[in-house]
Amino acid sequence: MNLQPTIPLETSATVAINTLALQKKARGERVFNLAAGEPVLPPHQALIAGADAALAAGKTLYTPAAGIPELRVAASTWMNRTYQTNFEPKNTLVTCGGKFGIFATLQAYLTPGDEVAIISPYWVSYPSIVQLFGGVPRIVETEEANGWKLHLEQLKDIAPSDKIKILILNNAANPTGAIYSYEEIKSILGWAQENNVLVISDEVYSGLVYDGKNYISCGSFPEHQDHVVVIQSCSKHFSMTGWRVGFVFALEEIIRVLTTLQSQSTTGTSSISQWAALAAFEHASEIIPYVREKMETRRNFLIKTLTKLFNYSFIPPASSLYVFVNMQQLGAQTKNSVQFCTELIEKHNIALVPGNAFGAEGYVRLSFGAAEAELEAALNALHQAISKLALNTVR
Ligand SMILES: Cc1ncc(COP(=O)(O)O)c(C=O)c1O
Repeated sequence: MNLQPTIPLETSATVAINTLALQKKARGERVFNLAAGEPVLPPHQALIAGADAALAAGKTLYTPAAGIPELRVAASTWMNRTYQTNFEPKNTLVTCGGKFGIFATLQAYLTPGDEVAIISPYWVSYPSIVQLFGGVPRIVETEEANGWKLHLEQLKDIAPSDKIKILILNNAANPTGAIYSYEEIKSILGWAQENNVLVISDEVYSGLVYDGKNYISCGSFPEHQDHVVVIQSCSKHFSMTGWRVGFVFALEEIIRVLTTLQSQSTTGTSSISQWAALAAFEHASEIIPYVREKMETRRNFLIKTLTKLFNYSFIPPASSLYVFVNMQQLGAQTKNSVQFCTELIEKHNIALVPGNAFGAEGYVRLSFGAAEAELEAALNALHQAISKLALNTVR
């Protein structure tokens, strides 16, 4: 029997590179991993205690499809306190990571042919998920010189298309680290309301914002709540990527539809993970600043080492876990990021993610999620490898 050929299934580039790196590691090879999309830290003691207690109490059966009530209360309370939103538990869905929240929201809203505005450079999964449901990605390019940020004028340009149903706004952004101000968000949401566009605000990096900068959630504009779905996650700011706990915050009727979708697909995320996530929220004021501080230190270390090795002033990203670098600044002569990264992993065991996967050719993404010693070894290896690359010719 044929697999359905009409579904555009593309493996996520970050997952593909990471898988190759893990396979090499399993074979006993030394791999330098600058591709990880996660803060590499041991689990906080509170998580272990929360999971242990759930196991010991036999909390191992199905949970309600929308998530355990205690976690819906804790997550919405945390959002409200941290970002001045106004969500109740009925506006909160617990999902298998933020990714499934995005998946389910797009599935619920899209009909074939609907356009979804995606800001480039974008998180690798947005276009593929949109296409899975017959949607058409409408890529809106941004530039490094403008801080990789969407400007209202660009949205005004696309308003005449009445097919744009959704805008995915990634604030704080992977791979660029861009964050949006109160005024910028207000104008984007105003445009969305005027044009009846739903904004899916992917806020999974909101806890990883550096240099004391303020973070504004799209959920904190009550006048726009009927046009906003907020995606959150425990993955990044609690360093819980493998536990698979995320959230959707939205109007009650949206949560009801997504709960039905979830009940007919994943049935919800693991019960143990949900109890561990509850423990994480109970210790949020301790865990999030701890993870943020660690990541800020690693970011500074990566920038300092990059600058020293490659003799170029790299600008520290305001948020997230990545430095998005023009390959020329690393001394590469080629602009083909896929070939560049393929050769680096295959021949030199160095994992980076090609800019092409984010819609920005000529760039690569370096993660600072790993510990300083690993970052230093990887950057030294990268520096040596670049001088040897066969691709190091002008193309
Ligand atoms: C921008 C962005 N959104 C969503 C996710 C999904 O994260 P998770 O499903 O682990 O919550 C990621 C993961 O890397 C991401 O980078």
